[in-house]
Amino acid sequence: MHIKDGFLRRIKLSSKKNTLQENEKSGILESEKFKELLFWKREFRTINELLDAATELEMPNLIKRKKVIERKLDAAERAMHDINKGLYFGIGYKLGNDADVKPIPIIGRWSKLNNHVGFKGTTRVGKTINMQGHIEQCIAKGMDVIVIDPKGGVKQDVLSSVVESCHAYDRSEDITYFSPAFPSISQKINVCYGLSNLELSAGFVESISTPTMDRFYIDTAEEILMAITTSFEYLQEVSDPTGKLTAMLEKAELKRYFAHMNNERKSEYDFLENYGFEDLDMIDDYEQSVISEQEVLEFQENGFNRSMMTFRELERYAHYKELKNLRTTVKLLEINRNIKYKKNVRALRDDALRLLNSALATDETHFAKVSKTLTNKLAALSVGPIGELLCSIRINPLMNRLIRKDRGVVAVMQPFPMKFKRSAEIFNKMILGMVSSMMGAVGVEGRALPRRLAIFIDEAGSVAYPGIQDFFNRAGGLGATVFVYTQTDEDYRESVGETLANIVLDNVNTKGIMRLNSLSSTREAAEEIGTFKQMKTIAMVSGGGTEGRYTTDVQEEYLCSPQDIKSLPIGEGILMHDGKTYYVDFPFRKAPAAAVKMPELSSEIEKRILASFEKILEEKEEVA
Ligand SMILES: Nc1ncnc2c1ncn2[C@@H]1O[C@H](COP(=O)(O)OP(=O)(O)OP(=O)(O)O)[C@@H](O)[C@H]1O
Ligand SMILES: [Mg+2]
Repeated sequence: MHIKDGFLRRIKLSSKKNTLQENEKSGILESEKFKELLFWKREFRTINELLDAATELEMPNLIKRKKVIERKLDAAERAMHDINKGLYFGIGYKLGNDADVKPIPIIGRWSKLNNHVGFKGTTRVGKTINMQGHIEQCIAKGMDVIVIDPKGGVKQDVLSSVVESCHAYDRSEDITYFSPAFPSISQKINVCYGLSNLELSAGFVESISTPTMDRFYIDTAEEILMAITTSFEYLQEVSDPTGKLTAMLEKAELKRYFAHMNNERKSEYDFLENYGFEDLDMIDDYEQSVISEQEVLEFQENGFNRSMMTFRELERYAHYKELKNLRTTVKLLEINRNIKYKKNVRALRDDALRLLNSALATDETHFAKVSKTLTNKLAALSVGPIGELLCSIRINPLMNRLIRKDRGVVAVMQPFPMKFKRSAEIFNKMILGMVSSMMGAVGVEGRALPRRLAIFIDEAGSVAYPGIQDFFNRAGGLGATVFVYTQTDEDYRESVGETLANIVLDNVNTKGIMRLNSLSSTREAAEEIGTFKQMKTIAMVSGGGTEGRYTTDVQEEYLCSPQDIKSLPIGEGILMHDGKTYYVDFPFRKAPAAAVKMPELSSEIEKRILASFEKILEEKEEVA
C-alpha cells in the first residue's frame, strides 16, 4: 500500500488509542487469508517496480510472473469477502479519533448500506473496477441487481464481469440484458407498463426536463400526457368492462415475448438461456381461452388499451389532430348504463374530457410549439432500435421478475455508449425513470420485494435528472440500495442544479472518495472528510536564555488535505461509512477472463444505429 507519508503522520497524530491490541484479540491480524492478501499486495508492488526498471530481455518473464501474481492477488481479495456480514470495500486504516496504523479489512454491514453508496474520483482511478467488485458481492448475496452502464461500448468490461460473477455464483440464468445497440441479444421492455397515468406522465416529463426548462412547457407536456392516458383508460374500461380481453392480450404478449426470447437469440448468448420457461402455465391458460381470437383481434385493433400502452401510442396522440380525434372518440363511446363497470367510468370520462379540452384550448400552431420537446422526445423513443426495445413488447418482464418469488434477476442495461451524448442522455434518464416508477409501483401495492435489491449506476452524475431524489427515496423505502459512481459532485450539479444535487448527495451515506483534480472538488472533499484536533506545543520566546515559556494550543487539521486528495494513487482513497472514516486500499480486481463478444460487426451496426438516432433528434429539433 502506497500510503502517503503525510497520511501516516496524520494517522499517528490523530490516534488517541492503540487499537492494535484489539485487532490482535479479534484475530484479524492472525488470519491467514489476511496475511496472504498483504503478501500478494507486496509482491504486486515489487513486480511493478521491477517491470518499470526492466530491460527488453527481462520483460517477457516478468510479465508472465505478473499475470500469476495478479491471479493470486485477485483470489486473495475475493477470499476477504464476508457476504454474510456485509460488503468488503478493501483493506484500510481507521482515520480520526480511533486512528490506527495497522490495516484492517473493511466490511460495510448490509443493514448500514441501505442509505445508499456513492463513489467519486477522476477518470481512470478505478471507480468502475470497484463497482464490479460491489456488484459481484451483491450477486453472491443472492440480491436482485440492476446495473446501468452508460459506457458499455465495445470492450464490455462491466457486462463481462457481471456474466463472470453470475457464473461463479450459479446465477447465469438470472442475467437479462437490455440495449438498443444490440437488438439481436437484447430483451424488450415496455417501461410504461404498470405505471399509473400520473406516474407515467410526470415521470416521463421529469426525465426529459432540464434545470433550465420553463415550468410552462413542463406543465403543458404533462397535461397532454395525462389527457392521452386518461382517455385511454376510459376507452379501455368501456370497451372491455370485464377486463378479460386485456388479460388475454397480456398473455398473448407474454407468449410472443417467450417466442422472441427462444428463437431470436443467437446461440453464443446462451447465458440468457432458460429465461422464464416456468411460465408455460400461463401460456396454456391462453390457449384454452374462451374468448375467440376474433374478439381479441378486434379489441387489439381499435387500439385503446391503457394497460399495454407504449411510447408509440403516446407519440401518435401527442399531436394536435390526433388528440382532437381522441376527444371525438371519448365523446362517441358512451357509458352503457346496463353494464356494471369496475372503475368509476363517469369520473374517468369527465377527467379525460376536461384534460383534452384544456390541452386543445389553443390553435394548432401554438400547440405544436409548446408540445415540441415532448413530441420530439417521444418520437426518439418510439422509432428505430430504441422503439424496437421499448415498444415492440407491451409488457414489462423486468418488473415481473423483481416481484416473482421463485427467481431473481441480474439486469444489465446499456442504454447507449456515451459517445452519442445527447441520445444517451434522454435514453438513460428514461431507464432510470422507469426503474424509479417501478419501485414506486411496487411500493404503492404495499408488497415488499421478495429479495433485496441493489441498483448500480455508473457515470451517475451525467444521467441524473431532476426528480432523481425520488429515485433515492423510493429505493430507500423499499430497502433497496443505490450505488452511484461519478467523477465529481459537479456532474450532479450540472444535470440537476445545485439544490437537487445537494439532496442527492445527502442521500449518499457511504462515500468513497478517490483522486480528484480540481481545486473546488478537492477542497469540498477535504471538508466532507473532516478534521481532527491536534495538540500543539508552542514555544513562547521571551527575552532569550532559558526563560522560554511553552503553551499548548489545539489546532484543527484536515484528516485529508485537498493536496492529499489530489495526489491519491490509483485504487486508493477514503471511505466514509457508518460514522467512521478510513484510508482504503480498494481491492485489486483482474480483468474478466473472457470478454462477452457482442454480435458481429457490432461497432458498425452500433454506429449506424446511433447515428440514425442522432439524426432523428437533430431533424426534429431543426424543424421545430
Ligand atoms: N482495483 C483495481 N484493480 C485492478 N486494476 C485497476 C484497479 N483500479 C484501477 N485499475 C486499472 O485502472 C483502469 C481504470 O479503471 P476504471 O475503468 O475502473 O476507472 P474509472 O474510475 O471508472 O474511470 P472512468 O471515469 O474513465 O470511467 C482499469 O482498467 C485498470 O487497469
Ligand atoms: Mg468508469
